[in-house]
Amino acid sequence: MQIKSICCIGAGYVGGPTMAVIAKQCPEIQVTVVDTNHARINDWNDDDLNNLPIFEPGLAEIVTEVRGKNLHFSTEVDKAIDEAEMVFISVNTPTKTYGKGKGMAADLKYIELCARQIGRVAKSDKIVIEKSTLPVRTASAIKSILDNTGNGVQFQILSNPEFLAEGTAIQDLLHPDRVLIGGNTSTKEGEQAMQALVEIYENWVPKEKILTTNVWSSELSKLTANAFLAQRVSSINAMSEICEKTGADVQEVSKAIGMDSRIGPKFLNASVGFGGSCFQKDILNLVYIAKSYGLNEVADYWEQVIIMNDHQKDRFSDNIVSTLYNTVSGKKIGFLGWAFKKNTNDTRESAAIKVADNLLNEQAYIAVYDPKVKAEQIYKDLEYIGSRSLEENKKYLEVFDNPYEAMKDTHGIAILTEWDEFKEYDWEKVYQQMKKPAFLFDGRGILNKKEIENIGFVYYNIGLGN
Ligand code: NAD
Ligand code: UGA
Repeated sequence: MQIKSICCIGAGYVGGPTMAVIAKQCPEIQVTVVDTNHARINDWNDDDLNNLPIFEPGLAEIVTEVRGKNLHFSTEVDKAIDEAEMVFISVNTPTKTYGKGKGMAADLKYIELCARQIGRVAKSDKIVIEKSTLPVRTASAIKSILDNTGNGVQFQILSNPEFLAEGTAIQDLLHPDRVLIGGNTSTKEGEQAMQALVEIYENWVPKEKILTTNVWSSELSKLTANAFLAQRVSSINAMSEICEKTGADVQEVSKAIGMDSRIGPKFLNASVGFGGSCFQKDILNLVYIAKSYGLNEVADYWEQVIIMNDHQKDRFSDNIVSTLYNTVSGKKIGFLGWAFKKNTNDTRESAAIKVADNLLNEQAYIAVYDPKVKAEQIYKDLEYIGSRSLEENKKYLEVFDNPYEAMKDTHGIAILTEWDEFKEYDWEKVYQQMKKPAFLFDGRGILNKKEIENIGFVYYNIGLGN
């Protein structure tokens, strides 16, 4: 079965880049990415590539190469489903904000809507692929909906979770550690569907990196991978607090343990706390699944990763307040970075949001600079937390296009995102323009303590004891 047409429902951080790379690597396949969000689709179709809805290094170049040839962005969802042999579902699966499982379980309403739409529209057999991150056993719900609402055509459901990280999405997609495909291995049709997807990836991914499993293992592996990664960050962040108390240096500890080949060096950077749209949501989902099976110890174990992360964010802002003589009321604090990590404009669950909220509660005045995040997004993030009105947020938090302007006349500066450009600033100049003593709170450990202290700053680096 050679696939010639693909539809992807959801033109977000995953759908857009993933399909752009498939289109680039498989010129013989027509790929259409659809979304109900008209503004987002317009942005994907914008001639000015600076207006693409997502900033990812390398993405604009690929979009230029394939858009209009075999990559299309459209709001005509029915048409794209109808024409496709393979439909990826890449819609959002946020944490539920209502009803049973509120604050924990994944909200699957968008997934169900997609399944019902595919069932209603499809007039020919289709392979339906879960690209979104889903609770284990969601495939059976999708199958049930499709089989009960479809027009008598056959559906094969596969799980093909996405492991890309933002900021490195294109490289991750071009050179994945592995591609995971879960399907029904007990039927000929199931095997054929898996093979059809394997053949797409084989266009650029080495065979030995394409892993096929049963569908439940695939669904659960995605949640497990994110839980393990987030757990490493919370583990090193827990150690960062011990380092600060004992005079140890968390970067030295990371290096020392990371050289153990059983531990490995990655994901051991202490920080102000992990953010991003998925770690927290996926762990909460895992906790909810464990609880729903009565596995309370398992649930408690994973929940601690989130508790530690919340603590890390709070302790960063608490430290700013206590260092600035126990009050930040009326004081200007400069924020460098708002995105949840460098090289992305995504701010979902960014530690900066919580740290800002805490400091605004203390009546600080905050001046933010982020190279890629727009002011509108920053106010939206604060509005979503809901601690105060938009007017109040605008009064006490200002967004700057120029970092030096943001840092001028501040009592303290907080580094929230590890953008490379922050390392290159003229810190001498920054120091001259600040109130004294000039405090610098490095939540990412990116500056050189000696150099910064020599200029005259009082420097606090996460995980660095005195
Ligand atoms: P996103 O919010 O950026 O994009 C989802 C898109 O789906 C939105 O544009 C929304 O309008 C659209 N949508 C929702 N329901 C729709 C419907 N019925 N019809 C058409 N369009 C619809 O989300 P994302 O970050 O791309 O994440 C998507 C999924 O991938 C989630 O399950 C997430 O957990 C998972 N994931 C995300 C990442 C990441 O780095 N962001 C990485 C791996 C996996
Ligand atoms: C993460 C996973 O890395 C991806 O494999 C997964 O596909 C994705 O979630 C998802 O399912 O959404 P992402 O959130 O984009 O990717 O970015 P990461 O590089 O994992 O960083 C997550 C957060 O952890 C960031 O806030 C980052 O700054 C923080 N982090 C990461 C640390 O604080 N220290 C580290 O050592 C690594």
